[in-house]
Amino acid sequence: MILVTGGAGFIGANFVLDWLVLRDELVINLDKLTYAGNPETLQSLQGDARHTLVQGDIGDSALVTQLLAQHQPRAVVNFAAESHVDRSIQGPGEFIQTNIVGTFNLLESVRGYWSNLPVDRKDAFRFLHVSTDEVYGSLKKADPAFTETSHIEPNSPYSASKAASDHLVRAWHHTYGLPVVTTNCSNNYGPYHFPEKLIPLMIVNALGGKPLPVYGDGQQIRDWLYVKDHCSAIRRVLEAGRVGEVYNVGGWNEKANLEIVHTVCALLDELRPSADGNPYKNQITYVTDRPGHDRRYAIDASKLERELGWKPAETFESGIRKTVQWYLDNPDWVANVQSGVYREWVEKQYSEIK
Ligand code: NAD
Ligand code: TYD
Repeated sequence: MILVTGGAGFIGANFVLDWLVLRDELVINLDKLTYAGNPETLQSLQGDARHTLVQGDIGDSALVTQLLAQHQPRAVVNFAAESHVDRSIQGPGEFIQTNIVGTFNLLESVRGYWSNLPVDRKDAFRFLHVSTDEVYGSLKKADPAFTETSHIEPNSPYSASKAASDHLVRAWHHTYGLPVVTTNCSNNYGPYHFPEKLIPLMIVNALGGKPLPVYGDGQQIRDWLYVKDHCSAIRRVLEAGRVGEVYNVGGWNEKANLEIVHTVCALLDELRPSADGNPYKNQITYVTDRPGHDRRYAIDASKLERELGWKPAETFESGIRKTVQWYLDNPDWVANVQSGVYREWVEKQYSEIK
C-alpha cells in the first residue's frame, strides 16, 4: 500500500484515480481538505475498499505516525501543498506552514517509521516529493530550458516555500539516508483543476460571460503538461527512479499565456458557441500584472526520458481539447467548487474588473 498526501487536490486526485484504474495496490489518502481539496473529485471511489481518505494535516506528527504504523506503506507520495502563486502573494503564511513546516514534520514522521523497518522493506521504501519547475526561477527568452542542475532561484513566496521543501527532502536523504526522489514538473492542466488557475478560470469565466483577466501583456511563457502525463511520470519515478535524484517533468510545450487564452476561446467557440454568437476572445481583459511575475518557465525533461523511458502521451492540442470538453461535460463539479470561499477569492483578486 502507498500513502498519498494531498490526494484530494488537482494532481493528487488524478494520481489516485489513475493509480486505482491501473493496479490494485491500496491507497491511504491524507488530505487536510483546504479550499483546494475536494472529496467530490474522488466520488467514484466511494465504497472502493482500496481507497481511504483521511482528513488531516501532513504537519500533524501524531496522526501521520499513527497512519504509518497502522497501514505500513511501502511509499509516501507527497502532493500536499499550498499551490497558488497569487494566494501566496496575498498571504504567504499558510505556504510557509504547509510547504515548509508541514514537509519537515512529514519527513520526521516518515523517518521515524522508515528507520524501524526491517532491512529489505527499508531498502525498498520510497518518499517521492512532488515539486515544481518554479523553484528554478525565471528564464530569459533565449535561455536553455531548466535542467536538474539549474540554479534554484525562486521568486514568489510559493516557489520559495517549495524550494525550501525540496532542500529539506534532499537533506533528509543525505543526512539520514531516507530513500527520497523528487520531481520538478511544469504547469499542469486537465480535469478537476480548481478554477483559480489560468486554464480552468478562463473556461469557467468564458462560459459565465465574465471577463477573461490576462495579467500584464499576456506574453509570459509557461511549459504545459497534461495532468495524466504528470501522473504517469510520478508512477515511473516511483518505480524506477534512482534514490536521491531529482527528475524534471515537462511536456516540451512552451506557450505564452495569451496564446493559451486564445486557444481556450477558439475551442469553446467550436464546442459551445456563445448564445449571442460573439467570439469568447472578446471577453479578454488586460489587468494589472502579478508582482514579481516570472516571465518564462521551460523544462528539459530529457533525464527522465533517457533514464526511465518516460514520454508524455498527450500533445498540447489533444490535451487542451480533452480539458475543455471535460469542463463542458462536468458543470456540476464546477458549480460545487465555486463555493463561498472561492467567490471571496475572486472578488479580492479581480476587484479591478468588476
Ligand atoms: P492543489 O492546490 O490543487 O491541491 C493541494 C492539496 O493539498 C489539496 O487537496 C489540499 O487540501 C491539500 N493540502 C493542503 N495543505 C495540506 C496539509 N497541510 N496537509 C494535508 N493536505 C494538505 O495543488 P495541485 O495543483 O494538485 O499540486 C499538487 C502538488 O504538485 C503541489 O505540491 C504543487 O506544488 C505541485 N505542482 C503543481 C503543479 C501545477 O501546475 N498545479 C505543477 C508542478 C508541481
Ligand atoms: P497560474 O495558473 O496561476 O500558474 P503559475 O502562476 O503557477 O504559472 O498562472 C499561469 C499563468 O497565467 C501565469 O503567468 C499567470 C497568468 N494568469 C493570468 O494572466 N490571469 C489569471 O487570471 C491567472 C489566474 C493567471
